[in-house]
Amino acid sequence: MSNLSGGSQPSNASWGKKQTTKMSIATQRRTWTRRADTWDRHNDAGMTKVAAQAIEASGVHEGMVCVDLGCGGGRLALELARRGARVIGVDVSAAMVDRMVAQAQSEGLEHVSGIVSPIEHLTIDPTSVDLVISNYALHHLLDADKAKVVNAAFGWLRPGGVLINSDMMLGRGATTEDRQVIASKIKVMAKKGIPGYWRILKNAGRYIFRLRERPITPDAWMQLYRAAGFVEVTSQNVVAEANVVKGVKPETK
Ligand SMILES: C[S@@+](CC[C@H](N)C(=O)[O-])C[C@H]1O[C@@H](n2cnc3c(N)ncnc32)[C@H](O)[C@@H]1O
Repeated sequence: MSNLSGGSQPSNASWGKKQTTKMSIATQRRTWTRRADTWDRHNDAGMTKVAAQAIEASGVHEGMVCVDLGCGGGRLALELARRGARVIGVDVSAAMVDRMVAQAQSEGLEHVSGIVSPIEHLTIDPTSVDLVISNYALHHLLDADKAKVVNAAFGWLRPGGVLINSDMMLGRGATTEDRQVIASKIKVMAKKGIPGYWRILKNAGRYIFRLRERPITPDAWMQLYRAAGFVEVTSQNVVAEANVVKGVKPETK
């Protein structure tokens, strides 16, 4: 069909995609704002191990400029700042960002700032950042948005900069590894009795219909990194469900 207005019209597909992203962002904002007061207490051993591994892999040092995507109450952002980095924490929930900033102030950490924004719409100056990092947040994004964010991060990083995603990484049960991870998660939840069974049911719905939890495999993440131009792409399994995937933006010649 000809375009009578002469301007470029969004296709139905791209309009539909934008609406899906909009709905996903609204759901995440609502969900996480509700959980902001309690999330920091979610310090299970697995999560602590994964976050520690992400920090270790980052090679953080004094003066490094870092962006923490889906920072929540600042689990990674604050730790990076304690080690001398300048950190921008980004989260869709203002309540989460407020908690991070309040904690930074109470610890006297001067170089922590927050941006309330969906990761999907974030803009950062090109080549202005040494490290883009994220813990347990990117699996919430739609798959097409995951690819967009990896590409965007490549642009924000200076040559030699690093992208780290530590997250729940699994497919939808097609492989033995996936099934082992799913079984181990069910086992942990079942030990909690009736509340655990309720969580199993809720999580099953979320995974099957990919409503709020949309994990992909470590291999799929590595492919996104490589497609964006990252090199030295590695994946390290930390606990059954979670890996740390790291890539480096090549130095310019
Ligand atoms: C599981 S929590 C992890 C928080 C923190 N990274 C940590 O390690 O404790 C997920 C976080 O991602 C944020 N989030 C989810 N979807 C988001 C989006 N589209 N844009 C920005 N933040 C998002 C949530 O608000 C929440 O704070």
